[in-house]
Amino acid sequence: MADRYLSFTATAPGRLLTRRLGLPQPAALSRWTAERPALEGHLTHLTAGGPTALDLAPVLARTGLPAEPTGSARSTGAKGSGGTTASSGPAAVVLDATGVRDVDALAEVHAALHPVVRSVAASGRIVVLGAPLDARDHHQAAVQQALEGFVRSLGKEIGRGRTVNLVRLTDASAAESTLRFLLSPKSAYVSGQVIEVGTEEVAGFPGSDGPVDWALPLAGRTALVTGGARGIGEAVAETLARDGAHVVVLDVPQAEEDARRVAARLGCSALTLDITAADAGERIAAELPDGLDVLIHNAGITRDRRLVNMPADRWSTVLDVNLASVLRTTDALLAKGALRAGGRIVATASIAGLAGNAGQTNYGASKAGVAGLVRSLAPRALAEHGVTVNAVAPGFIETRMTAAVPLFIREAGRRMNSLAQGGLPVDVAETTAWLAHPASGAVNGQVVRVCGQSLLGA
Ligand code: NAI
Repeated sequence: MADRYLSFTATAPGRLLTRRLGLPQPAALSRWTAERPALEGHLTHLTAGGPTALDLAPVLARTGLPAEPTGSARSTGAKGSGGTTASSGPAAVVLDATGVRDVDALAEVHAALHPVVRSVAASGRIVVLGAPLDARDHHQAAVQQALEGFVRSLGKEIGRGRTVNLVRLTDASAAESTLRFLLSPKSAYVSGQVIEVGTEEVAGFPGSDGPVDWALPLAGRTALVTGGARGIGEAVAETLARDGAHVVVLDVPQAEEDARRVAARLGCSALTLDITAADAGERIAAELPDGLDVLIHNAGITRDRRLVNMPADRWSTVLDVNLASVLRTTDALLAKGALRAGGRIVATASIAGLAGNAGQTNYGASKAGVAGLVRSLAPRALAEHGVTVNAVAPGFIETRMTAAVPLFIREAGRRMNSLAQGGLPVDVAETTAWLAHPASGAVNGQVVRVCGQSLLGA
């Protein structure tokens, strides 16, 4: 649904009026298109806390963003890759802070970013790299955790459609798919996130056989998207198909026409099935005798009422669609070996599940349950099946679901985030595609919010 305020603020009178009245001024976000697949501008690579063991330069070079051009001398003590500043600001800044181990070194984070932050281009990216927290060194843990507060605060103040995220890692090449995603227009609505990237795949379960095809990463793979007939699910199906997957669009029998329309448009197939059926997992496995590689649990419903007014059936319907069916089908497909090694499961949580939301005790419970499922199952699914398990947690996304929300609550939901606008289904789809990527095998057990850094539960 159209965000008229966003269109109005893009006009000259709209800009003037909203500035005068002190109203939010959302920036038009640059999203991925085939014509403009990359950020426009250069990448500045900075280091805080001294040299680190990360072999970052080759990975950053492969993002396709040109390194900072040489120009006038940088007026900072922090170390930049070229030691120079360009006349126009960077489209992306990567700050390697993995070597920060004490409060003095934390000052280098300030020294590195303070001079460049103003010049970062609109819709630009700041990615801070941190180290895993060291349980045996509380000084290291304190300052590495400090990076989280720093990133979340900078995300809230930076504006102009720019995003700030933190990646905790020890191996740059294992994080390549994550860095490519965060340093691209595909992550337009992902900000204020902390993403942990592991080191390697479990032995015997390589994430991809052979080199990754970055243009068509899912070629030869089969992906199933529940609730794929419309809204976010339709965008996920489209994005996975763009990445080369054969997609099976699953939806309820009542949505058969829409499911077939989407499948025909994408050259994929449709499967009508109510995901709450006790034998849904078995029926999916029967439909896909060769197995599948990517399972997207997207189907979800709301039946909002405050608890005091909520009849039991509204509670149980939501819990059944949003959580019980996700648990049942996941268990059935893993038990049958229907998910091939190197497979990916991406479930759909919600910020309502992380932060809570009045009128949504049933929905919030179901979506928090999804996050619990992901965190518990992820290490075992990887060890036993070679399959990663992650979740996306959308914030306010412009769909039929949110179009039905009363006007004032809808406006509040849209504006109460660092980007001052709602996200689009494609923002969730791009995040899902990154988690489903064959090179994302070291990303496991993560719940990544796609919410423009919503103030809810932030
Ligand atoms: P939507 O209502 O537009 O689409 C949901 C789809 O799931 C529909 O095609 C529907 O027929 C299908 N579905 C419902 N029950 C099903 C069942 N039992 N079996 C098979 N398919 C079923 O919803 P939207 O907005 O696209 O949301 C998609 C997911 O994202 C849901 O899990 C939702 O909870 C979640 N989400 C959405 C947010 C938003 O702002 N739109 C925010 C946070 C989470």
